[in-house]
This record gives sequence, structure tokens and C-alpha cells, in this order.
Amino acid sequence: MQQRQLFVTTALPYANGNFHIGHIMEYIQADIWVRFQRMQGSQVYFCCADDAHGAPIMIAAEKAGKTPQQFVADIAQGRHPYLNGFHIAFDNWHSTDGEENHTLAKQIYLDLQAAGLISTKTIEQFFDPEKKMFLPDRFIKGECPKCGAQDQYGDSCESCGAVYAPTELKNPRSALSGAEPVLKSSEHYFFSLSDPKCLSFLQEWTQSGRLQSEVANKVREWLTPNEDGKTGLGDWDISRDAPYFGIEIPNAPGKYFYVWLDAPVGYLASLKNYFAKGGPKSRGDARTFEEFMSDPKVEQYHFIGKDITYFHTLFWPAMLHFSGRKTPDNVFVHGFVTVSGEKMSKSRGTGIDPLKYLSIGMNPEWLRYYIAAKLNSKVEDVDFNTEDFVTRVNADLVGKFVNIAARSAGFLQKRFDLKLGSLSQDGQALLHVLQNAAPTIAQGFEEREFGKVCREIMLLADRVNEYVDANKPWELAKSVENEGALHQACTACIESFRLLSLYLKPILPDLATKVESFLNIPPLDFTSAQTLLGQGHVIGPYEHLMQRVDVKLLDQLTEPAKTEEPPKSAPGGVAIEPTIGIDDFVKVDLRIAKIVDAQAVEGSSKLLKLTLDVGEGQNRQVFSGIAAHYKPEDLVGQLTVVVANLAPRKMKFGVSEGMVLAASHEDEKAYPGVFILNPWPGATPGMRIR
Ligand code: 2FM
Ligand code: ZN
Repeated sequence: MQQRQLFVTTALPYANGNFHIGHIMEYIQADIWVRFQRMQGSQVYFCCADDAHGAPIMIAAEKAGKTPQQFVADIAQGRHPYLNGFHIAFDNWHSTDGEENHTLAKQIYLDLQAAGLISTKTIEQFFDPEKKMFLPDRFIKGECPKCGAQDQYGDSCESCGAVYAPTELKNPRSALSGAEPVLKSSEHYFFSLSDPKCLSFLQEWTQSGRLQSEVANKVREWLTPNEDGKTGLGDWDISRDAPYFGIEIPNAPGKYFYVWLDAPVGYLASLKNYFAKGGPKSRGDARTFEEFMSDPKVEQYHFIGKDITYFHTLFWPAMLHFSGRKTPDNVFVHGFVTVSGEKMSKSRGTGIDPLKYLSIGMNPEWLRYYIAAKLNSKVEDVDFNTEDFVTRVNADLVGKFVNIAARSAGFLQKRFDLKLGSLSQDGQALLHVLQNAAPTIAQGFEEREFGKVCREIMLLADRVNEYVDANKPWELAKSVENEGALHQACTACIESFRLLSLYLKPILPDLATKVESFLNIPPLDFTSAQTLLGQGHVIGPYEHLMQRVDVKLLDQLTEPAKTEEPPKSAPGGVAIEPTIGIDDFVKVDLRIAKIVDAQAVEGSSKLLKLTLDVGEGQNRQVFSGIAAHYKPEDLVGQLTVVVANLAPRKMKFGVSEGMVLAASHEDEKAYPGVFILNPWPGATPGMRIR
């Protein structure tokens, strides 16, 4: 078989936050597929990058007092512990602000322009007169034009679900400055996707059987003309006006590519950067980046989450095709991660913190196995459930698989100098069953049916354990007469263990490396599934390969942070704290916050979940222990004071991103009541208190 050549990517994460479990799930999924392909002898380049551009990152950088470049560089620094920690082996990690991306995005744009697919149009948009910038829809807030709900974003209402233009909002406000936005016109650049040739290309590209069926169906809906004869595909606005952190459009001073135009180009830029660093050359590939990309044998695959399907199945293939480039072979779409059935927020990613997982000493390969066991090729959500996690790891992975080695290696060491013997007929039959499963398992990996693969491997492990139970090595070991039978049984176990380790290697690369050294063998790959170690092979001494999960670790992983007790006595029931200087005081960033929403928290009689507008263009979620004192509906619309720079705290019900100030007596029983603070009229969200 000819060696396949694959270029594989995962979605580029925004460079304004650390990874959450959703990112890690996607990377593990892609990493398993890539490792499998390599074990089949394919040549794979596996790339990713930070998605650096756009207004939210520019604004976050400003807030952090950094240049956007410094801001994204700092975020990039934090990527390594996650990737190394979970054994995710990208060949290259780059940034969409890298030189390669600037060059490639401009070139693709110029090629689209040469193809007659770039047009301009003057449009009116909201402009923040204080910040002197056009406002993205998400940075405009006001009353919903349909239901009147307060504090809704400029594109859609979270209360009634209506979708509208920001200009339709009543009493619009800039979420950045609080100022009333004004309408201002400006020339924008468009990718003419409404051109009939784009529609017919996309119909062909999306409906030719490559996409997952549910993805193809969704895309068909998007492409089907609605009653007024228009498709969902209008021309795509690809420009933004300065100030914007992005790539300047050629021959259009002050205009920048909208972040979603240059983001997917970042896939190519990361690969180009890998070529520039000499990565492929050091692996025996003498081609240039351009030669590689135009080689028809190269297959290109993107792993993505379901929320960005539109960009990857419509805009991206059209950009590539009409700029004269090869289109992806496929886009593999997965669902979201839920934690015990609860959806998690994309930006905050509450639930399971991947770094905490590692820092409390949990084995990354437990998570890799667990995720693999729950993944299939469909766009289904994956639920992380602690009980299920314990069962799959302890009962299946360790109980059924790892134990096979533990059950036989000791006898080989004590009785047979670590040397394998012959196989009984039963043993041979068992190994045939295991070897015959190789094509099915390989097909499962190829089709990203990892859950099926895990089930298949566990069924094989069951067969091996049945063999062990039938042969009872511990009984055989009791009498010297049975020496031969004992040797045969242990040999069959070790041969089986090698095959199962091979099948699990894409999922458990670290464990597989340990097995290779224990068995004294070269790296396992799929071609070695049809051979056996054979009589006389000498294995190494057994060392424990994998622990079981201690349930306490999972409690620790999911437990909320603890609160500290205040000191007692004196005014208000508590002594005045030691004197501090102004320098210490200014470290506490107190801000005016508007309570946009307040909700009871199911399962807690103390907490209210508050949604606060602190003037950042994005609301915060804060849990506050005031449920016994305030009705949620009385709080909505009120202004209060929040500690805005308190480190986010993970609580049982979610992450709390700040603390609302409230007064109370130390002895609440004797002096009941909790009183939240309310500024005098005139204060607006985001104002600093000092
Ligand atoms: O949704 C996101 O997180 C985007 N940063 C994904 C970009 S994928 C690719 F197009 F760069
Ligand atoms: Zn509404």
C-alpha cells in the first residue's frame, strides 16, 4: 500500500484564555487519529496555532495593559503544560499573527480579487464616539426590539431568541464605554459568496458524500433557498476598520481582515512555518511548502467543534477553491463536552480544569482512554461523568487490560527466566482471535469510531481473562508437573498483552512505551499485529504499568475552592484589620457592576447566581451568598459594587468571577441581615471605586 500523506489540524483556539476541557477533548481526538495513521505507516503533519486576531483580544489586551502582541505571546507560553501533559503531539504550534499568515492571507485575498469575487459596499454601523471605534455586535447592548428584555447583545436576544441587527436595539449602549453609539458609514470589503458559481461549487463540495451525514444535512439547510428565493449565503463581510488587531488588507489602508478570514489561513501558516523550521526535511521530506500543498496525494483534514461548522464547510472551502487552491478532503465535526450532563460555557469552560487534573496527580492517559471510550464519528456531545470515569478506568482499563500482564509476568520471572515458551492449542486459538481483530480495529480508528474500538478491545481482553481463568496459572504453579502448562499459559498471556497494547497505543502512547520496554520490543505498529514474539523471546522484569483511580482524586478535581474565615471581635463583630498603605488598597479593583440577571441556584439555599455587567463588553457570572436576603427579581437592574480582580473561583455550581460586596455583622444570628452596596445615582457599570 502506498504511504498516505496527511495534513491534520485542530481548530485554532482564541489567544485570550487558557485551554478548557473542550479544547483538550478535541486535541485528544485528533491526536489519537494522527497516532493511528502514523502506526499504519502514513506520513502526517499535525499542526495548530493560536487564533490571535480580532476585537475581543484587542480589548482584553488593552484591559491587561499589554500590547496585543505581548498579550497573545503570554497566552502562547501557557500552552505547553497542557499539550505535554496530555501527550498531545502537534508537530507545530504557531500564531495567526505570524509572518506566514500575513503573507498567505493577503495572497489568498488577492487571488480572490483576481477571480472577481471581492466587492465593496458602504454600510452603516454603530460607532463608539468615546472609544473612537466601530463596535462589533457583541459589544453593543440594549433592549430587545421584540420582547423588550434589558441588556441584550447587538445580534440576538438571550431572552426571546430573536435575531436582529444592532441598529434595531432600543436604547443601545457601547459595552466598552457605556456611551450611546452613533451610526457611521464606512466602506467594507465583501467576499461575493452570493455569486452563483460559489453556490454551485459549495453544493457540490458539501453534498458529495465527504461530510458526516448530519453535517451535510445542516449545510443543505443553509444552502437551500428560503421563501424569498434567497439562500442563507449572502456576501460575506470580510473587513473591519481600524483600530483592529489583525492583518491589513492590501491596497486598503485602515482596513483589516475580519478575524474569521485569516483564522483558517492559520492552518496553512502553521504548516508553512513548520516547513520553514525544517521539520519535514528532518523527516526525509525534501519538498517545499508550496510543493507539498499542491501535491494531489496530500490529504487535508480539520478537526473542529460543531459551533464553527459554518465557517469550515462554506467559507473556508470557497476561499481555497476560488483562490486556486486545493480544498480540504474533509472536516471532522465533534460535539461539546458536558460535565455530568451540564453544558459548559465556551469562554469560561467551567467544570473540569485540565491543569488541576494534572496537578493533583491524575494520569493523563486515564482521560485519554475515557474520552476515546466515549467518542464516535458523529456530532454528539461527550459527557464527563465522574462515576462513569472511575468504572471505565478501574474496571475496564486496569481491571481487564493492565492486569493481564500483572497476572502472568511474575511467573515468567520467577520460574522461566523471563523467557517465553511455546503456545498450547488453546493459546494459539486465542491469539488468532486477537490477531484477526486487527482490521476491524484499524477500520474503527480510521473512521474515528474510538468508542467502538475500545469496546472491541475490551471484549478481546475478556477473552484473554477467560483463558486465564480456565487455565488458572496460580493453580498450575503449585505443582512442578504442570510446569509446561504454566509456561504456555503465561506465554499466551504476554503475547495477548502485546497485541492489546498495540491496539491501544494510539490512545495510550505513554503506556505503550512502557510496555515496549517491559516486553523488550521495538515500537509497536499495526504491521506487527500479524507476528508474535515467539518462543525464546526474553521480556523484561514487570513493573507496575498503571494505577487505579482513587475516587478521592475525583472529589478533589470537582470540589469548589474553600473560603477563609474572617477574624473575630469589636465593631460589627470583627476587629479592624491591620493598617495598609494606599499601594495595598489599589490592588483591590472595585468596580460598579450592573446586575443584569439574578437566578436561584438549584441545590443551594444560600447562593444566587448573578450576571454582572462590569463594562467589559462581556458579562460576568458571580455567585453570592445572599439568597436568604434578596429576591432575584428585586436585584435585576440594580447597580452594586464588585471586586473585579479577584481570581476566579471554582464553586460546586460553576465559576465565580468576582465578588459582590455586602455588609453583615460577624454574628449574623444576633444581628441578622446582609446588605449589598448600592452607589448613588450617576455611577455606571465599569467605573472604578477608589
Ligand atoms: O471558535 C474558535 O475558538 C476559533 N478561534 C476557531 C478558529 S478555527 C480556524 F479557523 F482557525
Ligand atoms: Zn427579546
